[in-house]
Amino acid sequence: MTEFTLDTITALAKRRGFVYQTSEIYGGLASSYDYGPLGTELLRNIKNKWWQEMIREKADMIGLDSQILLHPQTWVASGHVDSFTDPLVEDKVTHKRYRADHLIETWLAKQKETSALVVEELTVDEMGAFIAENKVLSPDGNPVTEPKEFNILFETAVGAIEGAKSKLYLRGETAQGIFTNFRQVLDSTRVKLPFGIGQIGKSFRNEITTGQFVFRTLEFEQAEIEYFFDPEQAGWQTLFAEWQQRMWEFVVNTLGVREENLRWRRHSDKERSHYSRETYDLDYRFPFGFKELWGVAYRTDYDLQQHIQHAGAKLNYKDPFTGKQFVPHVIEPAVGINRLFLMLLCDAYWQDAENKRTVLRFKPELAPYKTAVFPLLRNKPELVQKAQAVYQLVAPHHTTTWDDRGNIGKRYYYQDEIGTPFCITIDFETLETNTVTVRHRDTTAQDRVNVDQLLSYLQNQLNLT
Ligand code: GAP
Repeated sequence: MTEFTLDTITALAKRRGFVYQTSEIYGGLASSYDYGPLGTELLRNIKNKWWQEMIREKADMIGLDSQILLHPQTWVASGHVDSFTDPLVEDKVTHKRYRADHLIETWLAKQKETSALVVEELTVDEMGAFIAENKVLSPDGNPVTEPKEFNILFETAVGAIEGAKSKLYLRGETAQGIFTNFRQVLDSTRVKLPFGIGQIGKSFRNEITTGQFVFRTLEFEQAEIEYFFDPEQAGWQTLFAEWQQRMWEFVVNTLGVREENLRWRRHSDKERSHYSRETYDLDYRFPFGFKELWGVAYRTDYDLQQHIQHAGAKLNYKDPFTGKQFVPHVIEPAVGINRLFLMLLCDAYWQDAENKRTVLRFKPELAPYKTAVFPLLRNKPELVQKAQAVYQLVAPHHTTTWDDRGNIGKRYYYQDEIGTPFCITIDFETLETNTVTVRHRDTTAQDRVNVDQLLSYLQNQLNLT
């Protein structure tokens, strides 16, 4: 396995246009990133795969697209206004703020002996005691304050008149838009339990941490499902296990990630969110250790009951066959698209033994560009014209890119680094035999393929539907 650090991935992502620092010309914005041309394609591929597999291919799943701004009472009802917090400490000298749990993790990582302590399981008081006992300091080497709960909901305001504006929140999870639309979905569709509603969209959290690249950002994209069921008809443990299976299969089979880099971690009673009776994290081995990729929680009927109480809404379900009325329970698989993205960059990263080739070995369906088209020489109009015709031939079928800069070796090097599975070169032989060379990213093997058969050849290789 290729050894690398997060810095290696960050540098490649920037160098090749996957991820840029937001507002870089103004010195950047903490924990905020933009996605460049390559990153945009990769993000889109991940979302399309998730949507296809989780929503479109399942008879019991439907999609939704709710707003980022919801009625502020939503967040009071959901418990986020009171309980959506992280443990915060302040450097007593510089007044910079840090997550207490992250300071402890960094401190533990620096110790000679490995510790069995699971920091996520500590209460705020326990973190305070640990910091005091072990004299844990800030990254600047100064003592820190006692940890305090800090609410990470993002506040904003609506209204034109200063002083008369109303407080709103940028959503902290997409899930609440699903719960608040539950009645409308029941009334406007033919769904019956058990069924799930999924959506992909931006969420916002006032995260204090920096330095984990796109792993933890202020603004990020979630793909969440609320799977509603009758707890008297379906055991939650069975559904929970089925969703765990689906999540694992999506990551391993659909995204092509190595199983040895994945593990399940159960949340302890102390760690679980206020709404959950059971939570597991599917963790990925990032360069900074195993960390949460995708969570699955049994949220019971907590959220619907809260909205019934706070909004006075009728969020009960009436069984169309038996007439039985009740408030459904939910299982919630919730993943961050940006974490899937970072995982794919890490899992695909490969260098040969001599460090001559760096390759992102994405599954071909996920690669930002499936092919790259090269005229061997750019000052030979007959080659350029033929290459343009090949580009036009493949472009309607998959994402492709054009390169006529530098020599072929440099072009291959660049395409390997961005994970393009196939490079198509148009050379002098093409003009005589109507064949092109197709060079394979992972093996560097080359095939000579007739242009008339090129599309079906690529279709077979790319496994595209
Ligand atoms: N609705 C449940 C929920 O939001 P969560 O564990 O807080 O649960 C779900 O978030 C997923 O969203 C996480 O597993 C992670 O992949 C992603 N996520 C959470 N906070 C994030 C952040 N600040 N930056 C990037 N992704 C984040």
